[in-house]
Amino acid sequence: MNFKVDLVMRKLQRNDLCWCGSGKKYKKCHMESDMKNSSAMKRPPKGIIIKTEEQIEGIRKSCKLTRDILDYVGEKITAGITTNMINEWVHEYTIKHGAIPAPLGYNGFPKSVCTSINNVICHGIPDETVLQDGDIINVDVTCILNGYYGDASRMYIIGEATDVAKKLVRVARECMELAIAEVKPYSDFGVIGQVIQKHASENGFSVVRDYGGHGIGLKFHEEPHIHHYDVGQRGMQMFPGMIFTIEPMINEGKYQTALLSDGWTAVTVDGKLSAQWEHTVCVTEDGVEVLTA
Ligand code: MF3
Ligand code: CO
Ligand code: CO
Repeated sequence: MNFKVDLVMRKLQRNDLCWCGSGKKYKKCHMESDMKNSSAMKRPPKGIIIKTEEQIEGIRKSCKLTRDILDYVGEKITAGITTNMINEWVHEYTIKHGAIPAPLGYNGFPKSVCTSINNVICHGIPDETVLQDGDIINVDVTCILNGYYGDASRMYIIGEATDVAKKLVRVARECMELAIAEVKPYSDFGVIGQVIQKHASENGFSVVRDYGGHGIGLKFHEEPHIHHYDVGQRGMQMFPGMIFTIEPMINEGKYQTALLSDGWTAVTVDGKLSAQWEHTVCVTEDGVEVLTA
């Protein structure tokens, strides 16, 4: 009896003959593919929050409000306004809809939204800067609604921009969209950086390495950190119920960043343009739901 149980339960060892009858050792035959498909590999690593249906619904609502705020900004943004005015619009709209602007006071960030113009990569602080014809600006909005976070950003082109500025804005958006198309159960996070880097470099642009995407939902920034460039190896697997952002920052010139003395504003080292788009996405049973769409 015991013997039989042992025979059935004992896991095949690396040097055993493979179960398929090939006559090869297990390690040279089906071991790798079995490991990939085994239930042990289909469990997310520690620290990754798999959201419940209830949490997903809460995060979805917060993401829809985030999207609505970006639509609202899009209706009003124009040359001659200041980034402080964008901050007021975002703050008021968020509060009016029962939510809290997540950036305000986050690690000491002083405003309710990030506004990043031209050579600013991300985390620009709204101030009295006046938008000029030809500027490109990223507005990055994050809401907390009933304790749930939604995070998205878009580029806005002010008046008539140069051809390269328009191309950078378009390519950055395509990079985000190509990456979102890779999101599905058991997909490799490493592929996100691969498709983004390929598309950026084919268009003569570079990918920022110092900032990335992140898990989100119950907190602003959760595990995992998501690379938007090719790190040259596999990443973690994606699992249904994971919620994270994809937010590539694409530079016209070099990918390197510098931090201004305010401790927040990240700029390109060469003074050239940078563009970013961001969505919050959820891995579903059979693919992806873009929550901020
Ligand atoms: N919204 C940014 C992101 O996409 C984070 C901004 S942090 C802040 O992750 F403090 F600057 F608001
Ligand atoms: Co984000
Ligand atoms: Co954001």
